[in-house]
Amino acid sequence: MNLRLSSIPGPIGVFDSGYGGLTILSKIREALPAYDYIYLGDNARNPYGTRSFQIVYEFTLQAVAKLFELGCHLVILGCNTASAKALRSIQMNDLHQLDVNRRVLGVIRPTVECIGNLTSTRHIGLVATPGTVKSQSYPLEIKKLFPDVVVSSQACPMWVPLVENNESNAEGADYFVKKYLDELLAKDSEIDTIILGCTHYPLLLPKIKKFVPAHINIITQGELVAESLKDYLHRHPEMDAKCTRGNTCIYYTTEAEEKFSESASIFLNESVNVKHIEL
Ligand code: DGL
Repeated sequence: MNLRLSSIPGPIGVFDSGYGGLTILSKIREALPAYDYIYLGDNARNPYGTRSFQIVYEFTLQAVAKLFELGCHLVILGCNTASAKALRSIQMNDLHQLDVNRRVLGVIRPTVECIGNLTSTRHIGLVATPGTVKSQSYPLEIKKLFPDVVVSSQACPMWVPLVENNESNAEGADYFVKKYLDELLAKDSEIDTIILGCTHYPLLLPKIKKFVPAHINIITQGELVAESLKDYLHRHPEMDAKCTRGNTCIYYTTEAEEKFSESASIFLNESVNVKHIEL
């Protein structure tokens, strides 16, 4: 892949397969409002969670390359599936060809780093897409940092389509929300913490709370990722200097513009101007 990249500073890129990364973007913007951002949703090819490793890797690499071309020096994969299936390969194999000085970060590590302090029983649950669960990224990362923590995982293939189709609050969503949570909790009665390991799932939070006993903590990732990014920029002044500050956000979607702005307003509680883009 040969890209023509400019060395002038640019916005921070946030990528997701669809709308889910908006839950990450909004928390990042709350924590770091001064910066410029570009959000890219590959809505036309969503969901990623049921796709193969190779396809998620290829799609994610195309998105990262596009965000680099649009001027981003730092890209956050606001998507667990892409973080689980593509991040490591991009960091290890592709960055040096694209531009060694640019960086791509994911959402799994910042989430995992906090887990040890959040569970008392040391038994946690993970709900995520089939792709993220199959990758084993969460249990493997958790084992490295907190070897005493036991992780039970549950794939929830119907949750992303419910969110993408704006059915999160509908009565019909109850069936699939309850089904996967019951399956998870049946695996381990000592679970005291559940990670929502998919950036779409915060939209289902009211329903999830309804079907989970009150003593169980539900962990969403937005704040964790935002705090981690803040810390990263503080520790890497050379990257911080490449991120422009104008308090703007530009949205791109691979789907139709009207469709994106309509649904994005549900995630952000505000209307957005969006441009169509091809990857
Ligand atoms: N939002 C993505 C994640 O965090 C997944 C959505 C999808 O399946 O495309 O995993």
